Amino acid sequence: MNARPILPGITLMGAVDWDRRLFDSLIPLPDGTSYNAYLVRGSEKTVLLDTVDPSKVDVLMAQLDAVDRLDYLVAHHAEQDHSGSIPLVLARYPEAVLVTDPKAKELLQEHLDIPDARFRTVADGETLSLGDRTLRFIYLPWVHWPETMGTYLEEDHILFSCDFFGSHRAQSGVFAERDAVMRGAKRYYAEIMMPFRGFVEKNLVKLEGLQIDMICPSHGPVYRDPSFILEAYREWAGAPPRNTVVIPFVSMHGSTLIMVDRLTAALTDRGITVERFDLTSADIGDLAMSLVDAATVVVGTPAVLTGPHPRTIEAAYLVGALRPKVRFVSIIGSFGWGQRIVEVLGGLVAPLKAEILAPVFAKGLPRATDLAAVDALADTIAAKHREAGLK
Ligand code: FEO
Repeated sequence: MNARPILPGITLMGAVDWDRRLFDSLIPLPDGTSYNAYLVRGSEKTVLLDTVDPSKVDVLMAQLDAVDRLDYLVAHHAEQDHSGSIPLVLARYPEAVLVTDPKAKELLQEHLDIPDARFRTVADGETLSLGDRTLRFIYLPWVHWPETMGTYLEEDHILFSCDFFGSHRAQSGVFAERDAVMRGAKRYYAEIMMPFRGFVEKNLVKLEGLQIDMICPSHGPVYRDPSFILEAYREWAGAPPRNTVVIPFVSMHGSTLIMVDRLTAALTDRGITVERFDLTSADIGDLAMSLVDAATVVVGTPAVLTGPHPRTIEAAYLVGALRPKVRFVSIIGSFGWGQRIVEVLGGLVAPLKAEILAPVFAKGLPRATDLAAVDALADTIAAKHREAGLK
């Protein structure tokens, strides 16, 4: 992909990674991704904001053939998909000063062994003149590492936000179309930002004082109209959960599935939206996305060697680690001769600080009493959601 113009003097650099299907050896990328760098030319100085994943450094280097001199290279974030090519860019431009915050400097030196002399650290709110353009650095901690920051281009009212507001989306066009980007943006929020909801909210408040006409993230398309992504982030991070139950489950011989089906029907009859994920085939990104709005999670599992099915252990760990707004948790399932499922899964979802609703287990095939207990669980969930005023 060649460099693409955004505004006079402002260019989208970097690479579109159409074929990447896994990030951090963990996160599925159904729509690929991009590593965005931005070149901003002022009347006196030129700056490159971030670099690209080392696997795509050749793309960036070819784009930089059109750049004779680079005065500054800004590192918003030390994770390698943006910083991994910094050493090669610095080697190509011996005059370039690497601008970042003190925490990022520490991390960059630890990961990339960059000499002290190349750095200039900036304080929160500090400005840097490019002549007729001014960069203002804004600390945006924990979205999603401790050192993350953004850059506000004062004259153009553009926020370069790095991962914040990003989406793992490969596309040829520069700008975001709302309908096309929202699913990827929500998925990205769920996987990357949701564990830091409190910081997301604080950083959104911090940005409220700025006139932002455009947001240029480090993954996915540029927001020419940033209002919808800002509003979406406010809702995802801060609004109450919805009247929704997420059921991640595994069934080995059909008994747990009978209970999951019964719960699905009972919740639906009570006006609750249900999202189900058969963990033998589910995409964990889809599960993460469903957790953004969920009020309740009910894990369905059979006993495997008396413990939960391993796929449900992974899912429960994910639920606990992503820290969604979930308020209630329960477990349903079937066992043969004994089980300690609640002990194992309960510990994994403990970080949520959610209320645990009494689990329902059937010994072997669910009988009428077991199914009645599932219905009672649905009654409890419906009552809890009603009391909380969830819509
Ligand atoms: Fe896109 Fe946290 O790196």
